[in-house]
Amino acid sequence: MTRPFDRRFPQLAARLPWRALADLPTALEPAPRFSAALGIPSLLIKRDDLSARPYGGNKVRKLEYLLGDALARGCDAVLTFGAAGSNHVLATSIYARQLGLDCHAVISDQVQTPWVADTLRWHLQLGTQLMPAAGYAQMLEIAADIRARHPGGADQVYQIPWGGSSPLGTIGFVAAGFEIAAELAALGIRGPARIYLACGTMGSVAGLVLGLYLAGSDATVVGVPILPQERVSASAVAALCKAACAEMQQRDASVPSCPDLQSRLEFRSGFLGTGYAQATPEGLEAMHLADDLADLKVETTYTAKALACLIADARSGRLAGYVPVFWQTWNSRPKPPELKQADVRHLPASLRKYLAAD
Ligand SMILES: Cc1ncc(COP(=O)(O)O)c(C=O)c1O
Repeated sequence: MTRPFDRRFPQLAARLPWRALADLPTALEPAPRFSAALGIPSLLIKRDDLSARPYGGNKVRKLEYLLGDALARGCDAVLTFGAAGSNHVLATSIYARQLGLDCHAVISDQVQTPWVADTLRWHLQLGTQLMPAAGYAQMLEIAADIRARHPGGADQVYQIPWGGSSPLGTIGFVAAGFEIAAELAALGIRGPARIYLACGTMGSVAGLVLGLYLAGSDATVVGVPILPQERVSASAVAALCKAACAEMQQRDASVPSCPDLQSRLEFRSGFLGTGYAQATPEGLEAMHLADDLADLKVETTYTAKALACLIADARSGRLAGYVPVFWQTWNSRPKPPELKQADVRHLPASLRKYLAAD
């Protein structure tokens, strides 16, 4: 079945590079015990945790376009960036390997969380070529070096930015905006939706804002930054909306121009705590409530912070008249059972510390 976004812009769909990786649409499910406990009439959960096999989560939507582009350009490898426990880097490696592409990843340090060790073990199993770096400038230097040394030449290595949030990758979430607009319409919900999700490299939030606008939906996106404000802002989200729109218009002049969409985004910076991947008390409470009341697993870096914002809004009465939606962006498909057998001696020495306490 064609997706709602492709039906709306068939010429664009025919011209965009794309590879099917995801099982879409993901379900939009009620969580009745959770909403009752919060004292609100309803709560819907967008199950992107099951967006693909073997690994779900939000990143696969962007990778359909990015890896499609890598293949269309005849590349034989991809190169991307992220923190040691990055879900984006893991998803990129899993699906690049599935499509026969090598994966290089330039890795930065982060605070330890309970999920980093298995992410690195999974990379060992996949054969991701991990290159640790000390900071942003060094990450770019290492990337340039990898491309310069690539046997087939630098053009054979497709570079994907942090989080897959290039204008092209963002289109994956424009399509997600059409998808949820159709689901909300089919459910016949009363009242505008407020859609909560974590905001890191911003592609998911920006794509969703643009997609909902183009689909004619009155939903508001509530973006919850999980990085400090120098790295994430409402104006940067609006700029990415415009860039993704321009990327679409280049291929299909019938795509309408995008006005400043900042007013369709609510930006809530009070849930970050002390920084990226640092757990917060509200996030930990959200994690336990989600598990107990909806059998939903969230983690402390992204999803728990977005859910904490939704819970705070339910408690303060801010959700009155709205239908809240929590976008579950974290994978819930099981890890490969043999992960613990990964030979950690193959891990770069500076990354072994993440496995030490495990
Ligand atoms: C689980 C999860 N949720 C949300 C996000 C944020 O998405 P984006 O980087 O598109 O803002 C990420 C990004 O890494 C993620 O891994």
